[in-house]
Amino acid sequence: MKDRAIITSALPYANGEIHLGHVASTYLPADITTRFLKMNDVEAYYVCASDDFGTPILIQSEKEGKTPAEYVSYWNKRDHEDFGSLDIDFDYFYRTSSPENIAFVQDVFKKLHAAGYIYEKEIIQFYCKNDKKFLPDRYVRGVCPYCNASDQYSDLCESCGRVPDEISDPRCSICGIPPTKEKTLHYFFKLQEFGGVLSKWLEGNENLQNDVKKYVQNWIKSGLIDWDITRDISWGVPVPLDSAKEKVFYGWFDNHLAYISSAVKFLNDKGIDGKEFWNSSDIYHFIGKDIVYHHYLFLPAMRLGMNSEYKLPDYIPTRGHLTLQSKKISKSRNWYIGLKEFLEYYPADYLRFYLVAINPYSQDDLNFDWDDFATRINSELIGNVGNFVNRALGFTVKSFDGMIPSPGMPDEEDKKAKEKILSLYGVVNGLMQENHLDRALKKILEFSSFFNQYFQHKEPWKADSDATNCVYLSANAVRNIAIVLFPFVPGSAERMWSQLGLSGSVAKCRWNDLLELGVEPGHMLGNVSPLFSRVESADIERHKSRLGVHI
Ligand code: 2FM
Ligand code: ZN
Repeated sequence: MKDRAIITSALPYANGEIHLGHVASTYLPADITTRFLKMNDVEAYYVCASDDFGTPILIQSEKEGKTPAEYVSYWNKRDHEDFGSLDIDFDYFYRTSSPENIAFVQDVFKKLHAAGYIYEKEIIQFYCKNDKKFLPDRYVRGVCPYCNASDQYSDLCESCGRVPDEISDPRCSICGIPPTKEKTLHYFFKLQEFGGVLSKWLEGNENLQNDVKKYVQNWIKSGLIDWDITRDISWGVPVPLDSAKEKVFYGWFDNHLAYISSAVKFLNDKGIDGKEFWNSSDIYHFIGKDIVYHHYLFLPAMRLGMNSEYKLPDYIPTRGHLTLQSKKISKSRNWYIGLKEFLEYYPADYLRFYLVAINPYSQDDLNFDWDDFATRINSELIGNVGNFVNRALGFTVKSFDGMIPSPGMPDEEDKKAKEKILSLYGVVNGLMQENHLDRALKKILEFSSFFNQYFQHKEPWKADSDATNCVYLSANAVRNIAIVLFPFVPGSAERMWSQLGLSGSVAKCRWNDLLELGVEPGHMLGNVSPLFSRVESADIERHKSRLGVHI
């Protein structure tokens, strides 16, 4: 672990609201990791941006009668706000359409061009004579040649999930007339030439997931193909060549470059040399498995093509997709839950807790299930953690007027409890570093469960028991729970901190603070009250019945 880190997560398209599917695989794990690194004295910055370019955005803005710039600016703001309400704490949230990114993308293109990695080629494209436009990607709809589904995009059949070579019965998606085919000059990136170096890079990087590396290596073995990086549309980063007037870059050429341009802009504005910082940091790109190709091939190849002027990622944590009640999320079928809506019903920490608990560090898909959500929140977050915290602190208030007593002679159980507190650091730290956030959370729950049993067994409420050790150690266990839970459920951890009556904020704690008993005899607790309220089954039934209903 270096003492500097830049963390990014897949940039959200500025094209609609953030839903639970977005959050689970990338934004939440990245946020938790950033908080953890910061607590470990790493100078870490979490940088993100809205992904503003591309045909779907242009089409949608046209439909809504807005300029694309107005359209993306609305979603940039809205998405950033929604993330904020889940306590996804970006250090910087910028946009791919920023002047800095546009200049950077053009510069990268020129360098790749000068290095001989770009060539021109004439291709045949659909063209609409009525709209006087070339029609890339989503501008053409037709019948899928594989499954015969009608009204599918030319670049993706949403019914069978395949990418048609050529769509049948093509129609212009703006005016509906059949397009013609015309020649147009496009620019290609020589991805083919990078097979060998990419393979070597993958082999030498131990931090990348083995299963992902394996299938990326297979793609390389079966031969990479050069990549068409331009489009004939009006919304995108202009290609900086006289011979390419009115052409822009394909969104996947420019978007990941905003990881760099946004981070550098943010750091430079802080008076830090952004480029130097990037190159001396651990670089993390958190992604979902659908964009492995782009992050394990396009992105590193482009950086390699620039002589690694900006270093390649050290980590690309890749997770599976979220399904909802075991079915694929679909906005058009209303089979999704918007983040904003969810947070009208439940606190951010309930969602954070649940989405980490069910989320392994792998590409396996994970499933949001309303009943399971209720069970886990009620039994694990509330029944285990909430119960212990409230019991330990509530008892201290009731029996010791909120003041931590001086511990007497410890018995064997007390000694074991003390050891548990001091070893929590070791139990959780490695798992967090290795990105096994779900397993780390499980260990924290085991710790809390141990203390529930300890408290129950010690029976400090009985007249003949020596309650002092139990109360003293339990308060310290609560303190450690607050510290380790902070990256996961920051709001709740902060409330534990304030109920403990500790000064400052748990956000300012260091992971090393877990190695001491920081609640001392004589310390006064703050105001103690239940941390959480239960998830009610009647509400869960209501939420379930809303899914799939068209409004
Ligand atoms: O798939 C997506 O949602 C894209 N907007 C992700 C972009 S990540 C990038 F910038 F590398
Ligand atoms: Zn048309």
